[in-house]
Amino acid sequence: MGGAGNVALNLVFMGPPGAGKGTQAERFAREHGIPKISTGDILRDEVAAGTALGQQVKALMARGELVGDDLIIAIVKERLKQPDAARGFVLDGFPRTVPQAAALDGMLGDRGPIIVVEISVPDEELVRRVVSRRICSKCGKTVSAFPGDGSATLRCSHCGGELVSRSDDSERVVRDRLKVYWRETQPMIAFYQSRPTYRAVDGAQPPDRVRDDLVKAVAAVLGNPVGDGKHALGSRPEKNA
Ligand code: AP5
Repeated sequence: MGGAGNVALNLVFMGPPGAGKGTQAERFAREHGIPKISTGDILRDEVAAGTALGQQVKALMARGELVGDDLIIAIVKERLKQPDAARGFVLDGFPRTVPQAAALDGMLGDRGPIIVVEISVPDEELVRRVVSRRICSKCGKTVSAFPGDGSATLRCSHCGGELVSRSDDSERVVRDRLKVYWRETQPMIAFYQSRPTYRAVDGAQPPDRVRDDLVKAVAAVLGNPVGDGKHALGSRPEKNA
């Protein structure tokens, strides 16, 4: 792989809405030659394509509620069977409940341990980030458009496409999403916390600093505290839990 020799990098980036999971997962995946698997992106693609699944989940997502465990587990199970995930992946937005976390353990079998990195950020900063997030309707790039700086009306700097808000990025819905996070997803931390493959990083730093801390956290789990994303991250730890 791009940075870790023959070691499968089975990564989960977890954290509340706006913590930077997607931003960091995209970068880590690109730098290490493994796919980013975002359940939010998969579901949004289904909604945009108007599929039966998309129609089933559209209203629920717009309200900030979670899609059912069985449905999302089946989607991830299929996705992890794809050849590009054989040498690892970065999961963004999955698992999100204890049953999903237990199902992921079952899916991986002997594919190696899951490294879970929690990205934490104070709630008010999360709200600020999410409300000011814009997505390019053409290329999908995510940008921040802070209120008052005039950038909310600008077009994508990458492709010129129109910048739009996600349907669940209003302040009211993001506060509901945070409640859902603390109620449904926070208990998952207890599920992983006692494992030697769990780490937490401070997400309230500039993106480059968060990226560096993530790389160091993953390298430390793999037994190479100097890992910088450009060199081998180390050998696989003996066990997961
Ligand atoms: P999902 O798409 O997973 O949304 P989320 O978890 O709420 O996370 P976000 O995408 O809002 O935030 P992020 O942490 O990725 O932050 P980002 O990097 O974009 O899920 C959406 C919905 O789908 C759910 O509500 C649910 O309905 C359904 N769903 C998905 N998975 C499910 C599952 N497993 N089970 C059940 N239902 C599921 O960054 C946010 C903003 O901040 C951006 O503008 C970014 O540029 C900026 N930013 C990032 N990092 C920094 C930084 N360090 N400093 C300043 N700004 C930053």
